[in-house]
Amino acid sequence: MIFAIAAGLPLAAAPAADLYKTKCTMCHGTDGSGNTPMGKKLGLRDLRAQTTQGQSDPQLLAVIENGKDKMPSQKGRLSKDEVKQLVTFVRGLPKGR
Ligand code: HEC
Repeated sequence: MIFAIAAGLPLAAAPAADLYKTKCTMCHGTDGSGNTPMGKKLGLRDLRAQTTQGQSDPQLLAVIENGKDKMPSQKGRLSKDEVKQLVTFVRGLPKGR
C-alpha cells in the first residue's frame, strides 16, 4: 500500500490517503510541503524534510493525535489505527528534496 501511495495510484486503494486528503491537505498540502495558503500563514515545515522524518513514530503519532501549535488535536476524531496509518502515510510522502 505504501508503494501505491508513493506511485500516486488511485486513492481508493489507500484509506490513509483519503484521510490525509480530507484532514490534512488544507494546511500541509497534498505533497506534505506545506505550500498552501494556510501552510504559508502558519509557517509550516515540509513534512518530507529531515526535521520531520527524523522524528520517531511515537513522536509523530503524538503530534497527529494531540496537535501542535496551531495544528488541531485529532483526539476522538481519528482512531489510534487511523493515526498510525497517517504516520505511515507521512513517511511515504514522495521526497521532494
Ligand atoms: C490547521 C492546519 C493544520 C492541519 C489541518 C493539520 N496540521 Fe499538521 N501541523 C500544523 C502546524 C501549525 C504544525 C506545527 C508547525 C510545524 O511543525 O510545521 C503541524 C505539525 C505537524 C507535524 C509535525 C511536523 C514536525 O516536524 O514536527 C506532523 C507530522 C503533522 N503536522 C501531520 C499532520 C497530519 C497527518 C494532519 C491530518 C490529520 C495534519 N497535520 C493536519 C498545522 C496543521
